[in-house]
Amino acid sequence: QQYENILVETRGRVGLVTLNRPQALNALNKATMEEIVAATAAMDADPAVGAVVITGSEKAFAAGADIKEMSSKGYMDMYAEDWFRGWESLTRLRIPVVAAVSGFALGGGCELAMMCDVIIAGDNAKFGQPEINLGVIPGMGGSQRLTHAVGKAKAMDMVLTGRMMDAAEAERAGLVSRVVPAASVVEEALKAAEVIASKSKPAAMLAKEAVNAAFELGLAQGVLFERRVFHSLFATEDQKEGMAAFSEKRQPEFKHR
Ligand code: HXC
Repeated sequence: QQYENILVETRGRVGLVTLNRPQALNALNKATMEEIVAATAAMDADPAVGAVVITGSEKAFAAGADIKEMSSKGYMDMYAEDWFRGWESLTRLRIPVVAAVSGFALGGGCELAMMCDVIIAGDNAKFGQPEINLGVIPGMGGSQRLTHAVGKAKAMDMVLTGRMMDAAEAERAGLVSRVVPAASVVEEALKAAEVIASKSKPAAMLAKEAVNAAFELGLAQGVLFERRVFHSLFATEDQKEGMAAFSEKRQPEFKHR
């Protein structure tokens, strides 16, 4: 399939989506959202893909939702079109998604990164929710996911002042998984995704589901959900292979089933 706003490729068992609107610092217009959702859904459905990397350019992961596309809209347009709802599809992917963030991840760009499961940031990354400067607030989950990630103190600071966090602060605050030199952020993200994709795919997908359940369930329910999922993995060939390989002191050869 041909896309206009993103580049799509597959490297081994890893799908790579590169945002490609350099003229707008990868601002996320509707077409770009639809392309990201379509490309990642196809990867999610492909048995040969075990993880996805989403990245932007060195200057900008994404500078936000597309302000020019939104600026003239009224309430009824936003509501009737249920603006930003399409992003929900991205959060329902079952395979793990790694964000490789270099440069600006602002507004919807920061929110897109937070929809991913792992964030690898270049040391030049800048995260922010500057919507308050535009007279609005985050609209793609930022007020919720940022608060889950970094807690009330930092989230209020970011959302109310619109200031940016650099990569070091983002790592201290728990917003990003790792910080790496800017020049190698895509390479490091691909490596991490390759490691993930080399594991048993059902185990990796269910591990993602279990961690995400921690944001939805109380502790007792969450622990019960985990235990039931854990039990279910004993129905997989990969569990037999993984445990046999350990006993036989060799590397497992997962069949992803
Ligand atoms: C549309 C954008 C854009 C955006 C940048 N551009 N961000 N277009 N939507 N979010 C465009 C610029 O208009 C410009 O186009 C080109 O990209 C290059 O940007 P510059 O501003 O010239 O670059 P620079 O001076 O390096 O500044 C970089 C920047 C700045 C600090 C990231 O672009 C910026 O502040 N962008 C907006 C960030 C923001 O507010 N994001 C939140 C959006 S709202 P031209 O044609 O002029 O060359 C959001 C949440 C939605 O995401 C929730 C409800 C609103």
